[in-house]
Amino acid sequence: MSKDKKITKHIDEKLQGKSLNFLKKSGNNRKVYIESYGCQMNMNDSEIVASILLKQGFNTTSHIDEADLILINTCAIREKAENTIWNRLKHFNKLKQNNPDAKIGLMGCMAERLKEKILEEEKLVDLVVGPDAYRDLPQLIEELDDGRKAVNVLLSKEETYADINPVRINSNGVSAFVSITRGCDNMCSFCVVPFTRGRERSRDPESIINEIKDLARKGFKEVTLLGQNVDSYLWYGGGLKKDFYKQPEEVKQKAVNFAQLLDLVATEFPGIRIRFSTSNPQDFDIDVIKTMARHDNIAKHIHLPVQSGSDRILQLMNRKHSVAEYKAKIDAIRKHIPDVAISQDMIAGFSTETEEDHRATLDLMDYVKYDFGFMFAYSVRPGTMGSKKLPDDVPKEVKLRRLREIIDKQQAHSLYRMQQFIGKEVEVLIEGNSKKSDQHWMGRNSQNAVVIFKKTGNEKPGDLVRVTINDCTSATLFGEKID
Ligand code: SAH
Ligand code: F3S
Repeated sequence: MSKDKKITKHIDEKLQGKSLNFLKKSGNNRKVYIESYGCQMNMNDSEIVASILLKQGFNTTSHIDEADLILINTCAIREKAENTIWNRLKHFNKLKQNNPDAKIGLMGCMAERLKEKILEEEKLVDLVVGPDAYRDLPQLIEELDDGRKAVNVLLSKEETYADINPVRINSNGVSAFVSITRGCDNMCSFCVVPFTRGRERSRDPESIINEIKDLARKGFKEVTLLGQNVDSYLWYGGGLKKDFYKQPEEVKQKAVNFAQLLDLVATEFPGIRIRFSTSNPQDFDIDVIKTMARHDNIAKHIHLPVQSGSDRILQLMNRKHSVAEYKAKIDAIRKHIPDVAISQDMIAGFSTETEEDHRATLDLMDYVKYDFGFMFAYSVRPGTMGSKKLPDDVPKEVKLRRLREIIDKQQAHSLYRMQQFIGKEVEVLIEGNSKKSDQHWMGRNSQNAVVIFKKTGNEKPGDLVRVTINDCTSATLFGEKID
């Protein structure tokens, strides 16, 4: 068994009266507070955890001071993300002075990365649970009730939480996440995700359809199919993606790929707008583009992170495509879906990146003119190939200057893209009040742009309405509803 697959380990703590109090508060009296950081998958995982705990008699609360169990769903993607969580943990421990019986649990990617080490070295947490071990929470809570600290960071070959219906905490009642794959097999050299979320596996299409049926019944109007690399989705009866190739021919024949799943979902739910994220360019293929073009209810937006515009850097990052191949995919997408929005993730200052490599990234951005993007300075993650084999040799100030240039360029492109909507009519799914004014609605169009418009009194969240756009910033469209 590898070190990553450490089994459940319980660390005894001196039995204290205070922890025993926790034991006594059983049943429906207990409250859990969950705070989530990082990606959409984490938001969805928190909903899965809420569902598991509800069955244990817990209620969720948004007031941390009344919680018996405080859970923090963590992100390990960059050092800064982890620092934020350390600060929150310190803050929670201060709050515990007023609520000494409360227990603090660390879940998600940072829990998986640090494993039981965090219990041994820090006094800040009582419970550590990795992304594939949430089903074990009832047992782990029993451990806490017995006055011990508890940990389960076992990674799984099978777990997709297929049968667990997430409780939509913090939901707007309009838009929901539905996980379709877990883990990632790609091993990009900068990325910690394959270590924290394990190997890639896909979820049974039937359970995906059932979850969306339930959402539709509850009035949801939009779902986002989630995975680290959704285009790699492949259902062949369960198990790891890497084992698909060992299957007999008849099993392979019946397998469902991402384009087929998308087609299935879009056909079954004509009244639901379907989004998906994230697409790794290496696996994004023409069948998905054609499926998108065929269905009006699939949103016209593709998040297609490229990370760098330099072939040399892409190779060092262990990304499995060239810049030319990426551009060819962009061209194919625009050919089939002319009004599509395309967004990016970029990393500035990866190992050995030169000014020439950086300029190649800016050139690629000029070629695509992305609608929006998420841009980061490279942060070495322990355990990755990047940390073991490649120097982190771009000085911090150079990383930050390059990042600034990338962000500035993106802002100019975002503004350009938003301006193209001015004078046009767009279809907006209303999500709720605008943050700045309750006289205005906030929603999104198919391309995922935020649209703000004045209420007219005869529409509500969840409605699809037509809006004429008359103004914009680089991040927001403003318009008027067409009656
Ligand atoms: N496939 C995933 C990617 C997860 S990480 C998904 O579903 O989105 C999200 C983004 O974080 C990556 O695309 C990359 O741009 C950035 N990122 C990942 N590791 C990083 C690191 N070590 N330093 C800086 N940025 C990183
Ligand atoms: Fe990370 Fe690359 Fe997978 S960015 S999540 S290893 S596709």
